[in-house]
Order: sequence, then C-alpha cells, then structure tokens
Amino acid sequence: MAKTARTGREKIVGASGAADAETGSPAESGPETASDVTPGTALRSPAIVPTGTAEDGRLGNALRPRRFDEYVGQTAVVDSITVAVMAASQRGEALDHVLLHGPPGLGKTTIAHIIAREMESRLVHTSGPAMERPADVVGILSNLGERDVLFIDEIHRLSSAVEEYLYSAMEDFRVDFTTGQGAFAKTINLPLHPFTLIGSTTRVGMLSAPLRDRFGLVYHLDYYTEEQLTLVVQRSAKILDVQISDSGASEIARRSRGTPRIANRLLRRVRDFAQVRHDGVIDAEIGKNALLLEGVDHLGLDRLDRLYLETLARNYDGGPAGVNALAATLNEEQQTLEDVVEPYLLKIGFILRTTQGRRTTPEGAKHAGVVQALGTTLKSDPQQTRFL
Ligand SMILES: Nc1ncnc2c1ncn2[C@@H]1O[C@H](COP(=O)(O)OP(=O)(O)OP(=O)(O)O)[C@@H](O)[C@H]1O
Ligand SMILES: [Mg+2]
Repeated sequence: MAKTARTGREKIVGASGAADAETGSPAESGPETASDVTPGTALRSPAIVPTGTAEDGRLGNALRPRRFDEYVGQTAVVDSITVAVMAASQRGEALDHVLLHGPPGLGKTTIAHIIAREMESRLVHTSGPAMERPADVVGILSNLGERDVLFIDEIHRLSSAVEEYLYSAMEDFRVDFTTGQGAFAKTINLPLHPFTLIGSTTRVGMLSAPLRDRFGLVYHLDYYTEEQLTLVVQRSAKILDVQISDSGASEIARRSRGTPRIANRLLRRVRDFAQVRHDGVIDAEIGKNALLLEGVDHLGLDRLDRLYLETLARNYDGGPAGVNALAATLNEEQQTLEDVVEPYLLKIGFILRTTQGRRTTPEGAKHAGVVQALGTTLKSDPQQTRFL
C-alpha cells in the first residue's frame, strides 16, 4: 500500500519497503483496473516506487542536497530551473514539464526533489518499467492534485500504450480511457488537475519525438569537474562527520568518474579504511591507498572499465566492435556498458563510437596496456598490462 511521507515541506508519495528501489519493481499492492479509478481516492498503485537507488537509500538520502543552494555545479541548468520555478510560483501555476537527461548518478532525481520542494508541491515518484499497464498511469494521473509533481524515472522505458495516455495528460490535463468491451465499451474523459511531469532518463535518444516535444524544459546534465566533486566530497564528509584534508577530498574527487554518486560511495569506502587502518582522518595518501584496494585507478576507472578497454583493445584489435559482441565477451548486460561504462570512456577520449562499432583511441589502448601503432595495428605490451 502506498503511503505519503513528509520530508520538510516536500511531501513524497512512495511505496512501502516491499518495492525494490534499484529496479523500480512493483510493491505488493494488488492490481488496479481503469474502472477502479475514481478521482480523489487514495493512491493505491503498484507503479508508485520509492525514491533513489538502494545505495542512495542507505546513506545517500542524508547526502542528497535538499535545496538548490546545496546543489553543487550544473550552474546553467540550476539557474534556468530557478527562474522557471519562481515564475510559475509567482503566477500560482504548475511548472512546465521538465525532462532531465544524462548519465547515472549526476543528480537528476535530486533536482526533481528540489523542484518539488521549491514549488511546495507533493512529489509522486514512479518509473517507466513500473507503469506497466494503462490502468497504472490513469490511476496515478487521476490522483494528482493541483501543482503536484509526477516524477517518472527511466521514462524511456514506458510502453507505447502507456505513453499515449501521457500525451493528452501533459498537453491538456485530460485523460481519455475506455471501460467495458464491445457494445458496452464507454470512453471516459477525465479532467486532471494541472501538474508537472518530470521525466528522467539516461537514454534521451530512446524517447519518442511526440513525448520529447511535450516537455517545455529540457536539460542535459554533464559530468562534474574535479573541483566540483571536491566540494561534493567536502560537503558529504561534513554531513557524515568525517575529517578530511583538502588533498584527501581532491584525491577522491579525481577518482570519481565525474559523478557525485561515485564520489559519495568512494568517500564511504575511504572512511572505512581510514577508521580501520588509521586514526579516522582522511588525507591524500590514505585516499589513494584505500581506492587502490577498491580497484579504482588514478583516473577513476574500475575493473569493468578496464576490462572493457582491454577486451576491445586485445580481443578485437582495437575495434570496431559491436557493443552486443563486447557485452557477450564480457558477460555483462549491454545496457550496463551503454549507460555506465561507455559514456565516461567516451568523455575522456578513450573510445570512439563509430557507425561500424566501438574503437579504442591510442590513449585508451595505452591505458589498457596495449600500444596502438598509428593505424590499426596493435601490439601487446606485457609491461603495461598492470593498471594500478
Ligand atoms: N549537484 C550535486 N551536489 C551534491 N550531491 C549530489 C549532486 N548531484 C547528485 N548528488 C549526490 O549523488 C547522489 C545521486 O544523485 P541522483 O540520485 O540525483 O542521480 P541520478 O542522476 O538520478 O541517477 P540515476 O540516473 O542513476 O537515477 C545523490 O544521492 C546525491 O547525494
Ligand atoms: Mg535517479
């Protein structure tokens, strides 16, 4: 059964602990049909999911910025949203629909929460795969109050049947659905309260054009700089009550793949190491040694990143190789490679995405311990196969 929880001014509607926050799988509540949906009834949809990943849940929620002035970086995005939120609030209107896209862990969910808080609105959290049936979407939409925020994580995974219900809901605050069958079929036009849809995705290219076009505010979140991540680490260390030197914070920041979620995770690992092996205070040396132990190298690449690079460089002679072939060789999900591994390797110029497939650049091949001669000839260099 869904429940409403209050965190400060923002009210969050989420399922009970029965749902898996990581996958967005449904909670235990029973099925709901369109004919069950009566405006104003208590929200009771299996599609409502709790916020954040399991990892965020353990300590991350304490670390999640609650206001824009705590939110590090993404200045252009934050400035633009702040203006839009203030303007909508002054007019007493719902904020325009917002689409947030970019790699995982860069703060999309965090922004959705901050927007709801700043709008003094209730936030209803769901995800594309959780809204399996049209009844789910009709149930959720019909229960939204004036200026509520509906947050749909992984919006690229909505089924097309569900997506179509969103078109009129987003554009005209109205949803049309059919009850009964054959001669008894009846179309019901249900007016909705003006609400704000916030969609989040790591794969904006997979969104259909009609859906994408219905968002008035579209933002791309980019990787953070080392300086910004140093601020994230310092802020989190303060909240966790951990002593850390400036050089310790930047050592962690440098190895965080441009991602605040990773910075927070590494900080927790280094904190454990400092506590068990030292006096609890984190400096650069402790940071470095702790992260070597975790298999994170000086560029922040982890074992999977390096394995990907090495496989592409060695097994596929530097490419081109299809991502599905790489996934099969690595025994990994293709989606993990596309969403998590490749964006950062592309960003730091270690791989290229070509029409024929993925290729390593000379820098990428070198990091993988393979010397890439000009052209495509690759030679193994056993001296360089150790990464750390
Ligand atoms: N700008 C920021 N400043 C400080 N901390 C941040 C910032 N952005 C994200 N974080 C931290 O990183 C964690 C992950 O952020 P968030 O859950 O918003 O990422 P996301 O983009 O929604 O990821 P995913 O695509 O996996 O859903 C948060 O719990 C928060 O602690
Ligand atoms: Mg998220």
